[in-house]
Amino acid sequence: MKKKFLGVVLSVAMVASLLAGCGGSDAEKTDGNAQQEAPADDAADDAADDAADDAADDSTEGGLVGVAMPTKDLQRWNQDGSNMKEKLEAAGYEVDLQYANNDNAQMVTQIENMIANGCKVLVIASIDGNALGTVMDQAAEAGIKVIAYDRLIMNSPAVSYYATFDNYLVGQKQGEYIEEKLDLKNAGDKTYNIEFVTGDPGDNNVNFFFGGAMDVLQPYLDAGTLVCPSGETDQDTVATAEWSSEKAQARFDTILGAHYQDGTKLDAILASNDSTAQGVAASLEANYTGDYPILTGQDCDIVSVKNIIAGKQSMSIFKDTRTLAEKVVGMVDSIMKGEEPEINDTETYDNGDHVVPSYLCEPVFADIDNYKELLIDSGYYKEDDLK
Ligand code: BGC
Repeated sequence: MKKKFLGVVLSVAMVASLLAGCGGSDAEKTDGNAQQEAPADDAADDAADDAADDAADDSTEGGLVGVAMPTKDLQRWNQDGSNMKEKLEAAGYEVDLQYANNDNAQMVTQIENMIANGCKVLVIASIDGNALGTVMDQAAEAGIKVIAYDRLIMNSPAVSYYATFDNYLVGQKQGEYIEEKLDLKNAGDKTYNIEFVTGDPGDNNVNFFFGGAMDVLQPYLDAGTLVCPSGETDQDTVATAEWSSEKAQARFDTILGAHYQDGTKLDAILASNDSTAQGVAASLEANYTGDYPILTGQDCDIVSVKNIIAGKQSMSIFKDTRTLAEKVVGMVDSIMKGEEPEINDTETYDNGDHVVPSYLCEPVFADIDNYKELLIDSGYYKEDDLK
């Protein structure tokens, strides 16, 4: 199935342990500009210098790890960041965790500061995977290893490893969910209406999410079993800048206004993640009166799990960030010890410069039938979180 998918890949996965809960750990409260307040150890100013590395060693047992996260706007990155910080600190490392407010320039400045402060490994969940080339060169010059977290960093030789969930599988599972719930294999002459919403064009994961889903759904569009009344089926047209709920909602308001006001039934919406699905759900609530359509998502955000319980979203993809965090901390540890990190994929993620050795965690789908087992029994959420 992956052979069908031609998009260039990228994605970094990160994990966080929700053991800290979804609320407010110290890490989550880290201000986007806090790196400027970090003490700049003079001896560590030149990260390329061995003496500086030694100085960094003096301040902490294991050395400094820079963790760059895209935004605090989405629940998952807060979990990812706080889990990484907690687990890295437990393993004896000092952590500089920064959030960049979905602003690539801010992320570049934060990474520059991490390099200047003598970090030894960088863990980066990029905002625009195509726009970190120069600062990646600086990291390489300083001898710093870079792990792309959840989202791949593109077109840079400096990316050493990639840790993520199997992003193609995420999209495939979303597509298969729609295929199964509409029983498309046995549709005969029946037709079903569908609309599409995916994520930010600068996020390489989108190529995989959308590619994986379309490999399942495109044959049904070609056969006329699935019909898209808006006609908006190509990846660029259905993209949502910054994965914004508001932007997804605004686009969906327009679609519903133009194509569904006459009572046309909408059977399914492929939404690539929970933030976009939440925008779609809000738009449906305001503009659509028919039976609730199938609506996919990803992340198992608390808001979306509540929507699943309320019947406003059909499924989400559960990416257990605890598992990803464990893997990335293991990678950091191996790198620090001069060992080879564990990887399980050496073919899929070509960043345009090289195929990045990757560790892919496995995503699973969650819906009304299994969310309790997946999310509550596993300790990911407490029952009260979902009330
Ligand atoms: C992540 C998703 C997330 C999306 C929006 C993607 O790169 O893989 O889990 O929903 O970004 O932040």
